[in-house]
Amino acid sequence: MTRIKRVGILTGGGDAPGLNSVIEGFVSRATKEYRWTVFGIEDGFEGLIQPPSRKKVRILKPEDVKGIASLGGSILGCSNISNPWAYPITKKGKVTYSNRISSVLQNIKYYNFDALVLVGGDGTMTQAKKLMDLGVKIVGVPKTIDNDLAATDYTFGFDSAVATATWAIDKLHSTAHAHDRVILCEVMGRYAGWIALHAGIAGNAHCILIPEIPYEVERIIKKIKSLGGRFSSYAIIVVSEGARQAGSQYSTQGEPVKTKNGEVVHLPRLKGAAENLAKLLEGKIPHDIRITVLGHIQRGGSPSPFDRILGLRFGVAAADLLVRGGFGRMVALKTPNIVDVPINEVIGKPKLVDPNGELVKTARAIGIELGG
Ligand code: F6P
Repeated sequence: MTRIKRVGILTGGGDAPGLNSVIEGFVSRATKEYRWTVFGIEDGFEGLIQPPSRKKVRILKPEDVKGIASLGGSILGCSNISNPWAYPITKKGKVTYSNRISSVLQNIKYYNFDALVLVGGDGTMTQAKKLMDLGVKIVGVPKTIDNDLAATDYTFGFDSAVATATWAIDKLHSTAHAHDRVILCEVMGRYAGWIALHAGIAGNAHCILIPEIPYEVERIIKKIKSLGGRFSSYAIIVVSEGARQAGSQYSTQGEPVKTKNGEVVHLPRLKGAAENLAKLLEGKIPHDIRITVLGHIQRGGSPSPFDRILGLRFGVAAADLLVRGGFGRMVALKTPNIVDVPINEVIGKPKLVDPNGELVKTARAIGIELGG
């Protein structure tokens, strides 16, 4: 079994509330219980791509992390563009992608890391797998507000995002009611409807549109009309950013970004789902229509108590997993326990809402229209 002495931890991809909780849990356990030296790597893989002279790797001691579980963001910073296999370089306004994996491997050697803890979503776990294939010892920790990672009941960040979205929907009710308007509230989630479904049910929305159930616009119109006419009714429609009309494509901005070899580095950004729906509803219902896109407020701010605790548990469990030699594995929540699963089992298999599942059934039972 590898004897661990020095471990690097990085927070990859976009941020999510609870990243600091993981860092606090991991550093506390690793330093106090196991006496390892823990190095915080800044800005995701950027900290391993840049040379040591840039000082993007620093030692984390228990006093550096005490109490940070309640803070949003990441004390280490995040990056969802610093991909070691397709690192963007901008020259004269043109972006090209270069392979910087040799810098990463050199830095791992330079700092003499026995293992790395990668905290991230599907993209980071895919990079974890590629690094493992190159002989790097890795333990993964699942993160994303989207809750779309397989093999874990929940990712941290999701509960906080749902709380923010629900808070916003609660507020939209009173203003929509006062003006008898139809308000479309667009939420994040990529190609999974978890945030929309949870926040929409909790916030008593009239309609919830998720990517897993492409919508028929006529059903939405029928629902709005069933509530009453202009000056006598209002509606809140929660629209997942990946929601789309049956038979249509996702609403996106830009083209997929590809390397010279044709490898897709970034899918186009999801954008405009609520706007598309507004155009489809315009003139078909008597109400004024307004759009609220919640955007990054869903990722910002303090983690919820659930996410703080989940992040701390994941951090502690990641250290314990390293001690057991569980390289190539990711900690996961299988309620009520923290377990571990092979990282390979997680990659490229997003966890989506079951259109016939219990959560959708619950929404339908309380009268919410799902558009399909
Ligand atoms: O994966 C998390 C997420 O917040 C998605 O819900 C959203 O589509 C995306 O990231 C936004 O990414 P960015 O911060 O690059 O705009």
